[in-house]
Amino acid sequence: MNPSHDVELGAQLLQRGGLVAFPTETVYGLGADAENVAALARLFAVKRRPETHPLIVHLASREALPRWAARVSAAAWRLAEACWPGPLTLLVDKAPRVPDAATGGLPSVGLRVPAHPVALELLRRFGGGVAAPSANRFGRVSPTRPEHVVADLGDDIDLVLDGGQCTIGLESTILDVRGDVPVLLRPGAVTVEQVQAILGVELGRSSRGDVRAPGMLASHYAPDARVEVVESQLLAASARALSAKGERVALLLCAADEREGLEALPNVTLFDLGATTELAAQRLYACLRAADLAGASVVLASLPVANGLGAALADRLAKAAGPRSPQ
Ligand code: TXA
Ligand code: MG
Repeated sequence: MNPSHDVELGAQLLQRGGLVAFPTETVYGLGADAENVAALARLFAVKRRPETHPLIVHLASREALPRWAARVSAAAWRLAEACWPGPLTLLVDKAPRVPDAATGGLPSVGLRVPAHPVALELLRRFGGGVAAPSANRFGRVSPTRPEHVVADLGDDIDLVLDGGQCTIGLESTILDVRGDVPVLLRPGAVTVEQVQAILGVELGRSSRGDVRAPGMLASHYAPDARVEVVESQLLAASARALSAKGERVALLLCAADEREGLEALPNVTLFDLGATTELAAQRLYACLRAADLAGASVVLASLPVANGLGAALADRLAKAAGPRSPQ
């Protein structure tokens, strides 16, 4: 299947219960009509995602929020006004129109208005809510280019809309705004610092009990190669040690990383994540895919400084390095 620019066709396919992959500013999503239970069932099947794992519903504008949320707190409104369209998902009590199939039976729903012109055009033409997880098989690396989606899911879905490279490259920030104090469930490009500045409160801590909360499964965002994350000053020594053991190493380098002599190591391929945290976020998933294609047995990266967008980058690297689930 070739990626398409036909947004109207995408909207028609969604209306008919089809599965349409589309670009967002974070990662590509695999969309289905959020109110069509049969389409949602096919979405879970294609992704090989457990049906208890809830989906994010994408909306064309923040004005649609009251139709999809049972209750919108003042904090939720303020965040929607400040950040939408943008890479922020708000977890709210779901309105009756949201089927249990979209939320894995949970009484809450994640809502977001994406900031990509193709996504917004698709949502406007379709008119309803579009449930869309990242357009990859469950637990694997999210797609940031249309060809990633074609390679992963091309045979099983109805259309891939082409929006080029995703500018942010990591999934949206998820905030639970149901309680008095908002709780961060997944760090992303809307940073903790920004949210605290918008609301004027400290964020609460998430309880680690609920495995349905994002990324709390054993392994997520993982390539075939195992992933090791070390302190920056240990990177060169770790690369040498792995190379000496005969591992095929994909070495992900940030601007701050020492690269002296690393090119010359046997079985080590260097991948440049770029000079800024923004570039590293944009390129991370494509580099993890490239490492697999290069036949790497291990991906080695240094731990980013965990503030601002660096917190999201550190989170995804940690998830990629986490223990593998049985599948
Ligand atoms: O940037 C993004 O958010 C992308 C693009 C396509 O919008 N979407 C995305 O979807 O990352 P997905 O399904 O791959 O990740 C959504 C995460 C899941 O880990 C899920 O557990 C969590 O959001 N989530 C969704 N609804 C939830 C709910 N009601 N309660 C707790 N977690 C929820
Ligand atoms: Mg995902």
